[in-house]
Amino acid sequence: MKATVRAHPNIALVKYWGKRDEALILPHQSSLSLTLAPIHVTTTVEFGAPSDTVELHGHAAKGSERDRVLRLLDAVRVQAGRDLGPAKVVSRGDFPMAAGLASSAAGFAALAVAGRAAAGLPEDTRASSILARRGSGSACRSVQGGFCEWQRGERADGEDSYALQRFDAGHWADLRMVVAIVDRGEKEVKSRDGMKSTVETSPYYPAWVKDAEAEVPRARELIAKKDLEALGELCERNAWRMHSTSLAADPPLCYLSSATLGLIQHLREQRKKGVPVWFTLDAGPNPVLLTDAAHEVAAEALARACGAVDVVRCVPGGDATLLTEHLF
Ligand code: PMV
Repeated sequence: MKATVRAHPNIALVKYWGKRDEALILPHQSSLSLTLAPIHVTTTVEFGAPSDTVELHGHAAKGSERDRVLRLLDAVRVQAGRDLGPAKVVSRGDFPMAAGLASSAAGFAALAVAGRAAAGLPEDTRASSILARRGSGSACRSVQGGFCEWQRGERADGEDSYALQRFDAGHWADLRMVVAIVDRGEKEVKSRDGMKSTVETSPYYPAWVKDAEAEVPRARELIAKKDLEALGELCERNAWRMHSTSLAADPPLCYLSSATLGLIQHLREQRKKGVPVWFTLDAGPNPVLLTDAAHEVAAEALARACGAVDVVRCVPGGDATLLTEHLF
């Protein structure tokens, strides 16, 4: 009745931005990401505890945070088809939570896989991805390692909306993602609210959906060929378009800070000098730089020269895995 899982976060190369179903977390478009190591979240789930308790990163979870965890475990109970009793959950991450990398993606992926295992359900990446998605959309892409594609699906029940691994972590071991933390502050508008307002008010939103959907197979092809330059250009284009559709929301949503723009400007200059480095940007001010192993030191130096207060260097990460050591 107890299981522990370690999962990595992921960074979207083609972003997910906007839900067609808020409750089930179903997206309007497909997306594609890279799972990132060595940073990870470890989660232990035990059913049959005296009462429901949720501890996240050293604190007792409250309110909606706690509800999201317990709701996911309710879905596990339904899948198990039996009364599993109350659950105890302890989860810990090893990376700066303000890094702009959604710890929720790794957290909900670990919770989904651990929850199923603790309930005695068999390992099933599709079922775990669907479960993880219900915690946080991007989490469905952290159940497996390497490059994962979240297929938007068509069904109203979301059973065809999950992530599939296209290439494992070993496919492009030389690829590097360098997280440049230029701002540690909490973002003003969470992704959840930002995407909702964009869907509802941005006149550019339909164009975003069409374009992002078309970029996914292109990105897949470039990853197959390991074409860093073309993939870098695609990532930047996709990030700009996600931010453009948000800037066009009412009220406008701007996640970029002056430090973000300064770094992006500097990247361009460095590229002209022959440094192969591109950026992507989630719903926050911290760019994630895409480069190769030979240039990760240069990418870190560049980020620091532009005022990054912290830098996390990442490599392609593996699948969410069951551990034998538990957190309690
Ligand atoms: O899954 P959420 O609610 O954390 O939203 C993720 C949104 C982005 O990070 C901006 C894009 C993505 O695909 O990860």
